[in-house]
Amino acid sequence: MTVNLRSEQDLDKMRIAGRMAAEVLELIEEHVIPGVTTEELDQICHRHIVEIQSAIPACLGYRGFTKSICTSINQVVCHGIPTDKKTLKNGDIINIDVTVIKDGWHGDTSKMFLVGKVPTHAQRLVTVSQECLYLALEMVRPGVRLGDLGHCIQNHAEANHYTVVRDYCGHGIGREFHEDPQVLHYGRPNTGLVLAAGMTFTIEPMVNAGRHTTKVKRDGWTVETIDGRLSSQWEHTIAVTQDGCEVLTARSEESF
Ligand code: MF3
Ligand code: CO
Ligand code: CO
Repeated sequence: MTVNLRSEQDLDKMRIAGRMAAEVLELIEEHVIPGVTTEELDQICHRHIVEIQSAIPACLGYRGFTKSICTSINQVVCHGIPTDKKTLKNGDIINIDVTVIKDGWHGDTSKMFLVGKVPTHAQRLVTVSQECLYLALEMVRPGVRLGDLGHCIQNHAEANHYTVVRDYCGHGIGREFHEDPQVLHYGRPNTGLVLAAGMTFTIEPMVNAGRHTTKVKRDGWTVETIDGRLSSQWEHTIAVTQDGCEVLTARSEESF
């Protein structure tokens, strides 16, 4: 396993890519309303990344993925494919996952959107999964181990009677989309890789209302919960600093 450490010059490039990915999530918000298709959301993001940011949508063509973003609705855990057949409806929850490449460097981030008026139980899942991400971010600093992060996420999800998806994880990120290390969202304290300043990786917990098990649909991409219950995910790209972490994909609605 090779875990790359970034120089200050590398980080400057990753800050730019991260900000661009975050900006896409900020601009798409007003479009995430009942009646819009996920294809339309994809087109808006694609155009902004290519025409305004002069960047590359990393998902497009990645291992055969045919769209620029992932749109994962309700029981879809991740990797939902935008399509003109899928129209958002009142009460849906949707994760939009954006990865941009700028100047050879990646920024990867996702957030949940509530479509219209969403049932309280779904809102609660969305909130708790965001808390899982934020608790992990608060823990990050040199000397902390990946198992500590996984444990803290799992602990918070399970304390709320939810489960953590095991089949997908966070990842190192930089010049490559997915690098070492794997960042599991469950685990045991005091195990796994010891964090050091300069590491860059994502934390992207997927939290399920029911069982943690998933299946991939016949399209080869769409990951759903086996029991059909809701799933929620939030993702940031971060850099480990001397005394904590820098969230490279922070949005203006967030204060780190
Ligand atoms: N953005 C996803 C991640 O967080 C990966 C999507 S790969 C794709 O790692 F091909 F589905 F786009
Ligand atoms: Co990711
Ligand atoms: Co992502």
